[in-house]
Amino acid sequence: MKTILLVSGPNLNLLGEREPEIYGDATLADYVELASSTAADHGYELVHRQFNDEGGIVEEIHSARGTHEGIIINPGALTHYGWSIHDALAAYDGPVIEIHLSNPNAREPWRHTSVVAPVALGSIVGFGGYGYELAVNALANALK
Ligand code: DQA
Repeated sequence: MKTILLVSGPNLNLLGEREPEIYGDATLADYVELASSTAADHGYELVHRQFNDEGGIVEEIHSARGTHEGIIINPGALTHYGWSIHDALAAYDGPVIEIHLSNPNAREPWRHTSVVAPVALGSIVGFGGYGYELAVNALANALK
């Protein structure tokens, strides 16, 4: 089965406990389950990896070259300054979708810049967990 890669960045392993007033009560595992079942509806297997460091994300994106059909990525705070993630995604040949649970543009000014957005096909922000379903649908559509 063809695969798509979901990458989660720093602190997303704490979802469910971390600032629930912003991120909600659901866990990362809940979002991965939703993304996986949506991917299965489109005939893809979803592979998920979570990292609390930038280097792990960069290496995972390198490994995706020639392995996964596309990437969905929530880089957490690295979204706003992780230029090595930008460069790794620029070197990846498939479609990339950026996702955020919250809407960073409606939060603190330092969250208003995304270094990932310029190398993504599109960004899905502010729809909470539902965004994971939207992101998989968008990626599957791009892969048609
Ligand atoms: C986030 C938004 C980021 O600004 C923040 O640092 C996160 C989560 C989101 O999904 O809303 O860790 O990526």
